[in-house]
Amino acid sequence: MRRHYCADVNETHIGETVTVSGWVSSRRDHGGLIFIDLRDKDQVVQIVCDPADNAEAHKLAEGVRDQFVLIVTGKVRARGEGLENPKLKTGKVEIVADKLIIENKSLPMPFELGDDKVNEEIKLKYRYLAKKKKKSYDIFKLRSKATISARNILDELGFLEVETPIITKSTPEGARDYLVPSRVHSGEFYALPQSPQLFKQLLMVGGFDRYFQIAKCFRDEDLRADRQPEFTQIDVEMSFCDQEDVIDVAEKLINNIFTKCGFEIPTKFNRISYSDAMEMYGSDKPDMRYDLKMVDVIDIFERCDNAIFSNIAKDTKKNRIKALKVPKGDEIFSKREMKRFEDYVRKFGAAGLGYFQMKEDGLKGPLTKFFTEDDIQAIIERCELEEGDAVFFGAGNRKLVWDYMGRFRIHLAEIMNIIPKDTFEFLWVMDFPMFEEEDGKIKAMHHAFTMPQTDENGKIVYDDIEELKSVAYDIVLNGTELGGGSIRIHKEELQKEVFKLMGISDEEAEEKFGFLLDAFKFGAPPHGGFALGLDRLIMLMTGASSIREVIAFPKTQKAQCILTQAPSPVEAEQLNELSLRVRKQEKA
Ligand code: AMO
Repeated sequence: MRRHYCADVNETHIGETVTVSGWVSSRRDHGGLIFIDLRDKDQVVQIVCDPADNAEAHKLAEGVRDQFVLIVTGKVRARGEGLENPKLKTGKVEIVADKLIIENKSLPMPFELGDDKVNEEIKLKYRYLAKKKKKSYDIFKLRSKATISARNILDELGFLEVETPIITKSTPEGARDYLVPSRVHSGEFYALPQSPQLFKQLLMVGGFDRYFQIAKCFRDEDLRADRQPEFTQIDVEMSFCDQEDVIDVAEKLINNIFTKCGFEIPTKFNRISYSDAMEMYGSDKPDMRYDLKMVDVIDIFERCDNAIFSNIAKDTKKNRIKALKVPKGDEIFSKREMKRFEDYVRKFGAAGLGYFQMKEDGLKGPLTKFFTEDDIQAIIERCELEEGDAVFFGAGNRKLVWDYMGRFRIHLAEIMNIIPKDTFEFLWVMDFPMFEEEDGKIKAMHHAFTMPQTDENGKIVYDDIEELKSVAYDIVLNGTELGGGSIRIHKEELQKEVFKLMGISDEEAEEKFGFLLDAFKFGAPPHGGFALGLDRLIMLMTGASSIREVIAFPKTQKAQCILTQAPSPVEAEQLNELSLRVRKQEKA
């Protein structure tokens, strides 16, 4: 049906007869001559139907409409003087139709392809049509290349690709599970994996040494621009390794993917500790494409003559007072704008947002009256202020201050338009805390199988459990968490101790992860690994604004597939087979 892809037709074919197939992307009737832009997977070639050359082809072309499916045979000729289209790869030639077959008709498109303003639901209902645009095709071409290059480098590094189950038992990544009811075991459920975490660890016990998988993962969590309920990880695990070995593999993998996809990136990535990331950028995934760094001024504020600040400053463990300098901020922002920033941080729980302006005649602002001359000088020096700068202060509980000052930092960078496009800033965030407190409960920050940092005798030592560090690391790209991993616990006693610290009883541990604890009794080697979010990686590589653009058939923000109308009710019979009954949701 086809002897050439549209993209391949060029001057070397002038005088030759070619056959191309594709869809009509536009048709222009110039009274006499009809021009058709025929598009296949990624390129357009111009077809000319001239009644003088072939009356039959011309007659058929009169009835052709956009997106009709054609097979066209004809002679390639150079386009007339001044009629070339330098924007097209095939822009110097055209095909004079000798035979035109209308293989299929098409209804008019339900929306203008490529129009970004079209309602998202309509676009998702006709998701396959979006693929007709070159931009979309190119994203999936890149995704395919990235996946293949990941497979190739991991194969080269001695990793074995192994598939792990999709209907399985709950895996602990902190989200809600998608459950699958069992017909044979009535009243019992499988869970879709949130990640292949436990299976990949079992493979290490089984002696596989190096495993990888392009793994589908499922998490029922609140969706955002970089989250989908169903997503793909490049999942890796290895034995007899330390943190440096794992990081080395991850850097090689990322480098290979980016290079094969045509991007240049550094071979080694910068690192920062979790605690420095929080203290300086208020985030465990700081965007390093721009500067804007916070400094600690709690000691200076402790001495000030304002009870609110000096009280906050008394508890240096729980609280923080952070200053964020904005170079030339006083010149850029009006007083009103600075006030408006306070409204911004209040949305995230801040009690307020102090600020100073560095004027020609010294530091000014509503708070200066509370400080001595010496402390004003100390602020200027600590924040390295120069004339025209502004500096903003957040004070309060440290987690709260990190959070709203971190968000404020991003907000400032966006409104100041200082985020460079087309650069890739990778960053390892290291030494994550082992645990965090949530609603009064201690939970694992990464997951419960992560190795805590121990003393030389392999024992956990800590004063404050929230200060205990783990051997866990995240890889961040341009302010988005691209992946994460850890060295795992491989000894049963340590695993039990960690469960105990998290308030997980022996019975609960046995019920949930008994199979893993059992496996640890059969010679578990030291092991560790990581997983990269493939969808996020492609999203960042292509500059897509949403993860949906890089997933062939994505779900909406409400986790629906508009195209297939999933989720949907099922027949009563199916429910019966599964021993299930749907309770009608009572109206609120
Ligand atoms: P983690 O939970 O950090 O680690 O996930 C790894 C990476 O997967 C991506 N990701 C997502 N992408 C799209 N939509 C989502 N809902 C979503 N959730 C996560 C992110 C994230 O960095 N088993 C561990 C890895 C390990 O320890 O080896 C794990 O799953 O890019």
